[in-house]
Amino acid sequence: MKRILVTGAGGQIGSWLVPRLREQYGEANVMATDVRHLGPEVTEAGPFQVLDATQAKAVGQTVMRHDADTIYHLAAILSAVGERDPRLAWHVNMTSLEAVLEVAREQGCAVFTPSSIGVFGPDTPKDPTPQDTVMRPATMYGITKVAGELLCDYYHRRFGVDTRGVRFPGLISYGAPPGGGTTDWAVDIFHEAVERGSYRCFLGHDTQLDMMYMPDALDALVAIMEADPSRLVHRNAFNVTAMQLTPEGLAAEIRKHLPRFDITYEIDPVRQAIAESWPDRLDDSAARAEWDWSPSFDTATMTADMLTHLRHD
Ligand SMILES: NC(=O)c1ccc[n+]([C@@H]2O[C@H](COP(=O)([O-])OP(=O)(O)OC[C@H]3O[C@@H](n4cnc5c(N)ncnc54)[C@H](O)[C@@H]3O)[C@@H](O)[C@H]2O)c1
Repeated sequence: MKRILVTGAGGQIGSWLVPRLREQYGEANVMATDVRHLGPEVTEAGPFQVLDATQAKAVGQTVMRHDADTIYHLAAILSAVGERDPRLAWHVNMTSLEAVLEVAREQGCAVFTPSSIGVFGPDTPKDPTPQDTVMRPATMYGITKVAGELLCDYYHRRFGVDTRGVRFPGLISYGAPPGGGTTDWAVDIFHEAVERGSYRCFLGHDTQLDMMYMPDALDALVAIMEADPSRLVHRNAFNVTAMQLTPEGLAAEIRKHLPRFDITYEIDPVRQAIAESWPDRLDDSAARAEWDWSPSFDTATMTADMLTHLRHD
């Protein structure tokens, strides 16, 4: 049975991943940590500790005390927040990853680190975006994610640390709100559709981005860490995707359930520029070939499931 430590456990992904890991590996085996205190659904359902992941010594002590053999490193500053405060994004994203990798090297842990479609930039082929291609991102978030992918590869090659990761597209979920990324519109639109019947979108109507529903993201997080290492050629930063969405396309899908739903547009130039520098469609064939990645939800099934939960919760 794995002994797992999760950093950034209170975020959009962590709030789903921790219960999933506790169900799979046993409550006592999954230590949730975050820089802030979290609610009883996390702190009373299994071990929890306040932990700033940029503090290498504290990370090392927590891993040792929990006797962890696997770290899911989720703590990070996301794209839109990172553009507001680039130095904070560099500090948190790079210092925490370096701390986690060093602790993993010293204590023999496997490490999962999520990368992002944010690693790509305006020079990258957009449709499809290959697994191995130009990566010259235009955001501080993307710069930290490219550096992070390379650092994870380095720790594997140089020190034999079992580092693995995927490049997530925008993730759609109910529950914990997204943490300030460029794809947040695809979550906000559902809340506003149910609560107000209308949504004012910060991206243009035909801006296309890759997306994935949270249950598929959780499957990816677990599957990559359980994958047979002898099959992994890429290890860190596999392209994964499930669907391609534009605001007008998702609005049309929502209208099949809520016919009076209305969408208007008030473009945020910062997030629009970020979105335009990102891929339209990832090629995820390496993930399919190397660890049998295959998403379950498409736009129609994701939309139906989101609306069912938001209308009844
Ligand atoms: N959500 C997405 O759409 C998406 C897409 C691609 C990649 N990712 C990546 O997945 C990871 C998790 O993303 P998320 O959406 O859950 O982010 P989020 O912003 O929702 O959550 C991040 C969590 O990290 C915590 N945190 C911040 N600074 C910390 C620190 N110094 N020490 C410990 N914890 C700290 C925050 O309190 C928060 O709970 C990130 O690496 C992100 O880049 C997310």
